[in-house]
Amino acid sequence: MRPGDRFERVESSGEPVVAGRWPRIGCDCADALAQVQPEDPVYFDDGRLAAKVTDAAMGARAECVMLNKGAHVVDAVRTLDDILRRMQLHRSKKRPLLRALRSWNRSSRRPAVDPDDHHVFVSMGCAAENLVQAARAHGLLAAPSFDATRERVHVALSPAAAQASPLFQAIASRQCTRGDYDGPPLAREDLALLQAAGTSGGARLWLLMTDRPAMEQALESIVQGHTAQPADPVFVSELKSWIRFNPGDAVHTRDGLFSLSSGNPSIPTWLGERAFGRFFTAQGESDQIARQPRSSAGVAVFVGAMADKAHWVEVGRAYERFALQATALGIRNAFLNQPVEVAAVRSPFAAALGLPGQRPDLVVRFGRGPTMPRSLRRPVDAVLV
Ligand SMILES: Cc1cc2nc3c(=O)[nH]c(=O)nc-3n(C[C@H](O)[C@H](O)[C@H](O)COP(=O)(O)O)c2cc1C
Repeated sequence: MRPGDRFERVESSGEPVVAGRWPRIGCDCADALAQVQPEDPVYFDDGRLAAKVTDAAMGARAECVMLNKGAHVVDAVRTLDDILRRMQLHRSKKRPLLRALRSWNRSSRRPAVDPDDHHVFVSMGCAAENLVQAARAHGLLAAPSFDATRERVHVALSPAAAQASPLFQAIASRQCTRGDYDGPPLAREDLALLQAAGTSGGARLWLLMTDRPAMEQALESIVQGHTAQPADPVFVSELKSWIRFNPGDAVHTRDGLFSLSSGNPSIPTWLGERAFGRFFTAQGESDQIARQPRSSAGVAVFVGAMADKAHWVEVGRAYERFALQATALGIRNAFLNQPVEVAAVRSPFAAALGLPGQRPDLVVRFGRGPTMPRSLRRPVDAVLV
């Protein structure tokens, strides 16, 4: 067998068989054969797959899979090769490890609005929480932890009773809804569910709801942040590059901010790029900025227990649970992050909330109202590493 060859013909108990190896096999275990005999699950005879493909996939746990001779052994080897190739991506040494998911890449960083990658780590938390909910629905308990050295979230999975929670069922329909809402206060029970969903050991949730004076105070900071952002040309050009001006743009990239989702018209890209600076001004959207929180049932502020990447991930998880719970209750939400994105506004905003010296992470309005056109999502294959 040449180095790199993945299959060889070997003799075992006098029977010719084909053994599959794969290149990363460790020297210490190269000689140990985990034999799979005819009565075992991974067995191909006469070209018929005599066992389920999932069983064949379990062969990836063995150091060697042996196939008995047969007229169609070549086809069987091909099939097994394909299965083992893919399964190898789900293992690290002897440990079962699902393939990594890339929730962002360097090109999606936005240094003007997010110089310390705060939103990047919050987004990773959002993705991790979706995974937690989906895993549970499929009979797995998922425990995410943040690896600060590699800046990754690891998710340990262990068997548990399958439970398709309302949060899981809301994953596909959750969206940011950037239109006006209907205003009336929410039922006490709904607020309690939102509060519980958005709170954990790592993140707290401030609900500025029926308290209109508190909301007006938050609005002052939102307007201050909103006024500062268009004055920064780097911010404006960064935001412009993030806008998808029409459905063609949105389908092409499947990311960014789709203009129809923000209540803006669909226009040709060349026109959008030329006109953006003229329309995106502090004055241009100020009516909308004041109207939207006032049309909401409340404003939520998420605050991590500490201001570091691990806690930003926790904040993302808390926000995602909040948003999924809101979706399950038919409640809309959208971000109003200006007071946490503009550094000069953030500290006074924290102090006004009674959180001096702390870093508020996210500002979100919520309430009942109509849906809007959705942002597109990427297919799973596009985010598998
Ligand atoms: C950490 C974080 C910060 C965000 N900040 C804003 C924001 O300031 N304004 C906004 O309109 N959307 C904001 N978004 C929403 C994203 O633009 C939105 O999630 C994305 O376009 C996908 O759309 P969807 O959530 O409707 O599926 C933020 C999302 C995250 C995770």
